[in-house]
Amino acid sequence: MTDTAKPVDALSPAEAEAELARLAAEIAEHDRRYHGEDAPTISDAAYDALQRRNLAIEQRFPDLVRADSPSRRIGAPVSEKFDKVRHRVPMLSLDNAFDAQEVIDFVGRIRRFLKLDPQAPVAMTAEPKIDGLSLSLRYEDGRLVQAATRGDGAVGENVTANARSVADIPNVLTGDAPQVLEVRGEVYMTHADFLALNARQEAAGKPTYVNPRNTAAGSLRQLDPAVTAARPLKFFAYAWGEVSALPADTQMGMVAALAGYGFPTNPLMRRCESAEALLAHYAAIETERGRLAYDIDGVVYKVDDLALQERLGYVSRSPRWAIAHKFPAEKATTVLTGIDIQVGRTGALTPVARLEPVTVGGVVVTNATLHNAEEIERLGVMIGDTVTVQRAGDVIPQILGVVAERRPADAAPFRFPETCPCELATPVVREETAGGAAGVVRRCSGEFACPFQRIEHLRLFVSRRAFDIEGLGDKQIEFFFRDPDLPVKGPGDIFTLAARDAGNVKKLKDKEGWGSVSAANLFAAIEARRSIPLHRMIYALGIRHVGERTALTLARAYGTWQDFHDAALAVAGGEQTVREEMDALEDIGDAVIESLARYFGEPHNRKLVEELAEQVTVLDQEKPAGDSPVAGKTVVFTGALEQMSRDEAKAMAEKLGAKVAGSVSARTDLVVAGPGAGSKLKKAQELGIEVIDEAAWFARVAGT
Ligand code: IVH
Repeated sequence: MTDTAKPVDALSPAEAEAELARLAAEIAEHDRRYHGEDAPTISDAAYDALQRRNLAIEQRFPDLVRADSPSRRIGAPVSEKFDKVRHRVPMLSLDNAFDAQEVIDFVGRIRRFLKLDPQAPVAMTAEPKIDGLSLSLRYEDGRLVQAATRGDGAVGENVTANARSVADIPNVLTGDAPQVLEVRGEVYMTHADFLALNARQEAAGKPTYVNPRNTAAGSLRQLDPAVTAARPLKFFAYAWGEVSALPADTQMGMVAALAGYGFPTNPLMRRCESAEALLAHYAAIETERGRLAYDIDGVVYKVDDLALQERLGYVSRSPRWAIAHKFPAEKATTVLTGIDIQVGRTGALTPVARLEPVTVGGVVVTNATLHNAEEIERLGVMIGDTVTVQRAGDVIPQILGVVAERRPADAAPFRFPETCPCELATPVVREETAGGAAGVVRRCSGEFACPFQRIEHLRLFVSRRAFDIEGLGDKQIEFFFRDPDLPVKGPGDIFTLAARDAGNVKKLKDKEGWGSVSAANLFAAIEARRSIPLHRMIYALGIRHVGERTALTLARAYGTWQDFHDAALAVAGGEQTVREEMDALEDIGDAVIESLARYFGEPHNRKLVEELAEQVTVLDQEKPAGDSPVAGKTVVFTGALEQMSRDEAKAMAEKLGAKVAGSVSARTDLVVAGPGAGSKLKKAQELGIEVIDEAAWFARVAGT
């Protein structure tokens, strides 16, 4: 929108009508670019400004509201353009390190996990972290048969036709490649190609792109492969998925082999023998950064020996054997135009700074978190101030400080609200710390009465890692929450939508923003999730302190919804034995148990869970590696272990499908005891539980 646009108050009805038509077309075009093409050409703030202007005109001229007004539409339908591909080997992400100490700690963790001699060197590789998008390329008999984006790591999009048009990606491999070879790497665009593309766009009177990475992502995810072919994309290979026979036994060797098959690999990759050597190469790459033809955002370190990588394994979605050492955050200054209050799922009120759009590290930033009232006070920030903002990786931008000399005369202090910004305006209460002092978190006391909290709960419920209901995003949740004909107030209501709609006179398909296809797609997507794995069900409830990992631990321990539900109710009822049993589970302590007790102690929540459970079928927890001799067993390690660290023992047992508990109870199946074992060993003997030593453990799991 232009700054010279006429003020809304000054518009004549005819001008208002023309302006509404223009805004409807312009916003629709931006929606299409954003949702359909991954290629927004304006910042979020500029987009919001268009929406606000549209609303302001509509409020002044209610008779002129158009049938296709953007205020009545809900976001563009989720793109259904590409087929889904399930990755045979998940595509993982990387943990981050932000300073030298975290790198030293990372190497130390690896040494401890592997129980390495303090003097023994552990070889690592260091290479640039390319700022693009990752792609998995499957070759069979040397020919490219499939290309898939990362997606959520488990399922990506099939972009084979597009990948074939990228010159850096061989269609046929050279040399003696394995029969099945999945090559992984990064698609990116060089600075020069990005600038040239934007120059062409400008010359053609078309909008320009924001940064090379988004442009590369948008270019690869084009429905028309000819469009991808016309975009100058490049590729670096740095990893692999399924491989029928590994051509090397080190990371360096594998990357050299990939180069031999015809893939570009990064020339800045080095082998290092210590944390110091890694840090020295990081410094060298950082110095080189400005001269590189492409964007990088850090340096990736990996354990070189593949056998050690295998032993180290994974923690949730990241390998233990690799880390990304990020470059320091980039900074910029801009003006803080206002502070909004957001209410989270737990009712916590978070102040969010609204900023004049500014580019930080290639991304347009329009808001930043202010955490809490104390942070606002600490920064001494006022509305109208010029502030320094910093952005690092994917984290939310932060405000570092105020540029005092640029404070305008009319700068206004911010008063933290004493009531929730929702329509109920419930009083805000300040949380106490464990010691009873006033904490920094202020919460809306409305709990499940507060519409914001309920909406946030529903959002988590349908999100990718929970029920993952396609086409039911933030905007649609908000729509159904407020819709008088098809209200969704709790998760169970989602599963009755189709049936209720069938009984309604006013159908969803006839509502603004919907059509028969989008309504039918939504109902089908909901139906597809009527069966749900136990760990997702537990996670989706949004119980405080019960994240994905804890949900998985609980699901593995209880196996069925019935058993989990019974245990949770028992804990809420104060049953000590069940509490102890839960406490014995690895990673579960008082905070989780208290939170479960509180959640299931609340009649409203019990009703919500009941209504949901009536609608869905909760699948029993799949037992991973079901054929191992310890699958499904609860194992306790105690005493000293000699051949592996406690962490490695635990990871190994879990990989084989066992549950590892921290203490011995009647539910324990096996105790692995080393020298010096004490009370746990004694308790196991009292309870008549099988006890073996470390050597017997290896003998038992050998060959799995
Ligand atoms: S290794 C198992 N190496 O970073 C780990 N990733 O934050 C596989 N990336 O999804 C990744 N450059 O898209 C690796 N040299 C590099 C990389 C790199 C960029 C990206 C990749 C990955 C993300 C993880």
